[in-house]
Amino acid sequence: MKKIIAVTEGDGVGKEVIPEGIKVLNLINDYMEFDFEFKEAPAGGAVWKQCGESLPEKSFETIKTSDALLFGAIGIPGLPQGVAEIAILNIRQGLDLYVNLRPIKLYGALRDRCPLKEEFIGDGIDIYFVRENTEGLYKNIGYLKDDEAENIMRYTRKGCERIIKYAFEFAKRKGHTKITSVDKANILKPSQLWRKIFHEISSEHSDIQAEDIYVDAFCQWLIRTPYSYQTVVTGNMFGDIISDEGAFLIGSLGMASSGNIHPGKVSMYEPIHGSAPDIAGKGIANPIGTILSVKLMMQESFNNQDLGNEIENAIEDALNEGRTIDIQNPSIKTLSTNEMGDLITEKLKIRLKK
Ligand code: IPM
Ligand code: MN
Repeated sequence: MKKIIAVTEGDGVGKEVIPEGIKVLNLINDYMEFDFEFKEAPAGGAVWKQCGESLPEKSFETIKTSDALLFGAIGIPGLPQGVAEIAILNIRQGLDLYVNLRPIKLYGALRDRCPLKEEFIGDGIDIYFVRENTEGLYKNIGYLKDDEAENIMRYTRKGCERIIKYAFEFAKRKGHTKITSVDKANILKPSQLWRKIFHEISSEHSDIQAEDIYVDAFCQWLIRTPYSYQTVVTGNMFGDIISDEGAFLIGSLGMASSGNIHPGKVSMYEPIHGSAPDIAGKGIANPIGTILSVKLMMQESFNNQDLGNEIENAIEDALNEGRTIDIQNPSIKTLSTNEMGDLITEKLKIRLKK
């Protein structure tokens, strides 16, 4: 099955982690019925410096005509605020990627890396954040004058319905029994619309327990009872914030992956960490967020659940033998980015050969 994958390494550690994702894709190429072709789509801060645009038209054209996009991270020190980030927002808006799927899973091997006490980890952490990805404060309506600035949080029925429906379908697919909607309906009008629509849609899904919670309270409960959440659906800005909080619970931001998805259309997969200029070029970045993004690509864009599960299993195998510095353990070998990618690929090869 021929699939064209657009690749944006971006800036900083993006250039180090993406090759590890490609390694995994190349292995899949060798062992499965896939035939991946990679096409570079340069974007980010360095590109902005060269040509004044962080997402050149040519790159967007490459992305639009591919089957999926694997994206690293963008941003370099010294740029004006926001110019690199615009590339991500333009891809999300330009491809109408209204779902931002962000899994937060604490692997057994990393329980000791979770900053919470054992009693708060309970049965473990395995949450899927479903973040609305095209509306709200991120729609880029707004201005900054000398002493005044404004952004508008606008949500539409269409925008709320499609993401909430997706979240219910997703929860069902994962066998979840509960879905949590996070909003600020005691204050914000868009949240009142959101909550109304959440209740409408939940009434069509009597098999899934639906609860809503204000975002401030959710931030508290996420570190007190993280084991109690399954699918969590929320708006764009809240989703940005709570997914970073969640990512810390799984040991390292370097472990967190994401999919910017429009079901059935070209979608974008990226680790949720940034370009990390402080550690870039040292070969120590954790490639697992990227490799888990490849897993999501296989499952959400290429409809191969089993392969995605095997990638995840290979990562768990590898974590017992070697780890990058951000998740290091004194009794386990510390590996470079490249070595971590090699170890995971080796573990996956054993699994795919079976
Ligand atoms: C993320 C990032 C982006 C966001 C930035 C880089 C535009 O923080 O993917 O969470 O705010 O959505
Ligand atoms: Mn973020």
